[in-house]
Amino acid sequence: MIAKKYGVNELRKMYLEFFQSKGHLIMKSFSLVPHNDNSLLLINSGMAPLKPYFTGQEIPPCRRVTTCQKCIRTGDIDNVGKTARHGTFFEMLGNFSFGDYFKREAIHWSWEFLTEVVGLEPDRLYPSVYEEDDEAFDIWRDEIGIAPERIYRFGKADNFWEHGSGPCGPCSEIYYDRGEAYGTGPEDVMGGEGDRFMEVWNNVFSQFNNDGHGHYTELKQKNIDTGMGLERLAVVVQDVESIFEVDTIRALLDEAAKLASTRYHEDEKKDVSLRVITDHVRSCTFMISDGIMPSNEGRGYVLRRLLRRAARHGRLLGIEGAFLGKLAETVIAASKDGYPELEEKREMILKVLTEEEAKFNRTIDQGLSILAELEETLSAEKKTELSGEDAFKLYDTYGFPLDLTREILAERGFTVDEAGFQKAMQVQRETARKARKATNYMGEAQTAYQQIDPTLTTEFTGYDKLTDEGKITAMVRILPEESEEDATALTEALAEGDEGTIVTDKTPFYATMGGQQGDIGVITAGDNRFEVRETIHLKGGKVGHTGKVLSGMFR
Ligand code: ALA
Repeated sequence: MIAKKYGVNELRKMYLEFFQSKGHLIMKSFSLVPHNDNSLLLINSGMAPLKPYFTGQEIPPCRRVTTCQKCIRTGDIDNVGKTARHGTFFEMLGNFSFGDYFKREAIHWSWEFLTEVVGLEPDRLYPSVYEEDDEAFDIWRDEIGIAPERIYRFGKADNFWEHGSGPCGPCSEIYYDRGEAYGTGPEDVMGGEGDRFMEVWNNVFSQFNNDGHGHYTELKQKNIDTGMGLERLAVVVQDVESIFEVDTIRALLDEAAKLASTRYHEDEKKDVSLRVITDHVRSCTFMISDGIMPSNEGRGYVLRRLLRRAARHGRLLGIEGAFLGKLAETVIAASKDGYPELEEKREMILKVLTEEEAKFNRTIDQGLSILAELEETLSAEKKTELSGEDAFKLYDTYGFPLDLTREILAERGFTVDEAGFQKAMQVQRETARKARKATNYMGEAQTAYQQIDPTLTTEFTGYDKLTDEGKITAMVRILPEESEEDATALTEALAEGDEGTIVTDKTPFYATMGGQQGDIGVITAGDNRFEVRETIHLKGGKVGHTGKVLSGMFR
């Protein structure tokens, strides 16, 4: 039994004040837009905006800091709505030490906060440690007094925290057993994928720096980076099924349900849409309050995509007319306590949401009727795949994004020829490029491609291989068309959403040659993915793979 069912706003305050009482400076949440950090599109953890303090590049205002940081993670966006556990926006509570306290204090305070301040039952809490971290294990056993069989040792995948380049290290997590009511399957065990054991707290003993190539160096100062999802803590404290049912978020979901004249848990299909809308409206409201504008690039594209998905699910629910602004009002009311900028930017938030929603509604009306006709033709011809040219025409002529076409078709059992779509796009780009060249009477402008080290070459291995491994030797960023700067620039890193060209020492990709089609495909490095839309010849026997970073980053 939990002593009291604290609300989200109360829990945030309790956490920050607890760590203030332990000598921490409370800092305001940083913007969702990373500052001087091109390894990230959006802030995705409490520590992300504090990286310079961890590495020692900048001096923190205090060596102990605590924050509640707004975060967005879009890696699982396709699952949002389908399950009750996925979301893109969340708040992360954190206490940080920059070369000050280390493992002992971090563990003691996390335990004290959860059991004494919040009043969680100690018997329901289970810590985990990195398999080689005896020091953390001993603190849990000898100082906190946890029976050794209740302390779990996990490997690197679970208990070593890192995100791209920067500070990282082993971690110790705390799980809460929500009881059999939340699951009794084989996955409902400590560290399992089930809903019964919920990870609430992560204490990262951040002592290394990853240079982005997997090379670790010991940091001069040992740091503490902790993270606890505020919404998850509220799930445990309020003893509700998912983050969509905690007080502030449920208020938003209920508001969406009211607009759709329905109720949560009445119809599973509608629940999916209600969850998509609830999560995405939160993300959009916060993103706009941080100055992000809908566009076709990077962060702006993430915003546009979230906003359009929310709008479309509103339609699926039968909500008539614009509704995102109304829901944003509920987000502002629920969260302005912790984020006064929501109230300050109210007008702008509502304006941007409403304008983009109206624009999208016009697009969708046209696109939907054309798509319906295309579906009829497919059915009549007993086909299940929409051609790439048709999908491209929807995109190019009616502004109907590919992911939307894909999603709508999938709901009715159709697929899209995506490779065909990319080819059609490539042909169109080629035509546009030729048109540009022809009108440029000053001759071709100097591009970043001509600045690549002339001695670099690329070995072509595509005669007998379709996939191969190689090293990145140079990269060029291609700036969005509306950008005022030079259209291309040499770069050290391409982050999620960036367009550019990757040059490698070896490649199985065949490059365009007088009229022939270059290869398309994917370049991967771990979980990082780059979509190759065009393969080009560069001076000096180099091959460039041009496209877009789908996830993660390349260095
Ligand atoms: N940075 C750590 C996390 O995100 C605490 O889990």
